[in-house]
Amino acid sequence: MAILIDETKRVLVQGITGREGMTRTRLMKGYGTQVVAGVTPGRGGSQAEGVPVFDTVREAARSVGQIDVSVIFVPAPLVKPAALEAIEAGIKLLVIVPDRVPIYDVLEIAAAAEQHGANFLGPNTLGVLSPNRGVLGMMGGQAASAKEWFIPGPVGITSRSGGITTSMAYYLAKQGIGCTTVAHVGGDAVIGLPHADMLRRFEQDEDTRLVVMYGEIGTSQEEDAAALIEQGGFTKPLVACIGGKAAKRGTRFSHAGAIIEGDRGTYEGKVKRLQEVGATLVDSFADIPRVTAEVLSKLEARPKVVTNVKPEAPAAPATNGKHEPEADKLHWKTAVSEVHPNEIRLRGYRIDELMGRLTFSQTIYLALTGQKPSPEVGQLLDAMFVASIDHGATPPSTLAARTAASTGAPFNAALAVGLLSINQHHGGAIQACMEMIQEVVRRADSEHAGSMEASAAALVAAYKQQKKRLPGFGHRVHTNDPRTKRLLEMADQSKLAGSGVAAVRALEAALAQQGSSPLPINVDGAMAALLLDLNIPVELGNTFFMIARVPGLVAQVHEEKTRERPMRQIHPSDHEYDGEPPR
Ligand SMILES: CC(C)(COP(=O)(O)OP(=O)(O)OC[C@H]1O[C@@H](n2cnc3c(N)ncnc32)[C@H](O)[C@@H]1OP(=O)(O)O)[C@@H](O)C(=O)NCCC(=O)NCCS
Repeated sequence: MAILIDETKRVLVQGITGREGMTRTRLMKGYGTQVVAGVTPGRGGSQAEGVPVFDTVREAARSVGQIDVSVIFVPAPLVKPAALEAIEAGIKLLVIVPDRVPIYDVLEIAAAAEQHGANFLGPNTLGVLSPNRGVLGMMGGQAASAKEWFIPGPVGITSRSGGITTSMAYYLAKQGIGCTTVAHVGGDAVIGLPHADMLRRFEQDEDTRLVVMYGEIGTSQEEDAAALIEQGGFTKPLVACIGGKAAKRGTRFSHAGAIIEGDRGTYEGKVKRLQEVGATLVDSFADIPRVTAEVLSKLEARPKVVTNVKPEAPAAPATNGKHEPEADKLHWKTAVSEVHPNEIRLRGYRIDELMGRLTFSQTIYLALTGQKPSPEVGQLLDAMFVASIDHGATPPSTLAARTAASTGAPFNAALAVGLLSINQHHGGAIQACMEMIQEVVRRADSEHAGSMEASAAALVAAYKQQKKRLPGFGHRVHTNDPRTKRLLEMADQSKLAGSGVAAVRALEAALAQQGSSPLPINVDGAMAALLLDLNIPVELGNTFFMIARVPGLVAQVHEEKTRERPMRQIHPSDHEYDGEPPR
């Protein structure tokens, strides 16, 4: 089962000949929704997307018969007459997509709906979708991608943020967890079907075993949901996340309804009430899939693993129709960041909430992996970046950047030249070393009865026989690189050292046993081991050196431009340090 929409519902679109009405009718139909009629005054007798258009809702109902839902795509000032017309014609569910519908109009619509036993989702809603059964509004985009992002399963979703509604469904799907129905209740202060009404419906839906609720500060929706649970009106597990933790009193948090007034609608108040009634609260949106899986497994209903979810599924879904005027024309996706007016999110987190809370290194980890790291991981990354920031005036990237700068090249060009000089033999050993470490770890398990030492010794012997150098070992200047020692110490202290560190240590020991002169782990080798232990994908290994080196290159280029004459011949080593003495 599902709530609000499934394949049996007969749907009308008001404003069907408008820009959004037409596009969304095509997409809703493409997903399998039964769109049986449309209404635009003055356009009766025509067709839109193969759907007959009528001048009034009554005419439509007379002609096509039963209509269960009307989806309204008319501009905000015209919503009230359109909604009243649908309600008076006997339609029992409206989905009011437009934003900025005047609040007094919504109150009038609510009064009429109550009088006629009707309900409405929104206003300012992305809509509602029941996977593989039907969609109303602007959720999901094209059918092919919507079927990847929204998969059927035991979870009901109710959310006050449109973007987060679809993102939650997407990230749950990536975990193999599907949904009965995914609903965006709307972002306004007065809406037709707030969370508590959604919970009542999910309670009645026998396929829904758990509900995930995304709340926000402002209004009493979450408190009302808690009261419903307290009164026994909702008895299933509830996983809840409340946005707006950092919002100050009186500041609107993105959506019109998300504002704390006096002591009402605070983050703390909502969290406390929901916890009191036994909901499982998650602090961060990113934790929702894991916690949902845990709660589901406690219900002894293993999340259904759906085979059509490809591991390399494209990316977070497009989330808000405002920014996809012609969704069917969109042809690429991104999961890195999402920007709406006054809202910037990195991997789902609001940038302004990350600022001052996550260090730059932690944020880099988040940007690259999509996961928020612990403070300990952040410290280790900081140490790696500091270790690689600058290595004197002789490395090829520095010389190349300085040479370009001395020709008068602008900053961006000189920096680019420096970065382009980071290659296999300079700054590029990290990735190769990560691959080698993976090989040692893999063979330790498969061929050497779990012995890292035996696996490392065999690899060193093989490399020696082939006269190949081991990436990440030895240095042309340092015999006991202080950076390596410090990085490995920190990894040990923070207990983040894993099989990567064990493997480089085993390789170092094997090299000492088999070689004529010792070849200690160098900073690339230490970074390779640590990046593996921090679950960084191998193909990103060298980029950590590049990220670290940019500030050093900026300093070198700046000095070249401000201190040296143009077009000088730069000798790699004929220079003297005249900066601050050791301090
Ligand atoms: C509602 C909205 C989608 C309409 O935008 P639009 O498609 O660009 O508007 P258009 O003017 O092209 O179309 C509106 C149509 O409704 C028709 N209309 C007006 N009053 C009507 C009524 N009472 N009944 C039926 N149709 C009506 C208009 O005649 C027009 O059709 P036309 O093509 O014949 O001119 C837009 O105003 C809006 O609010 N967008 C934001 C939605 C949003 O972000 N929601 C929240 C998601 S989180």
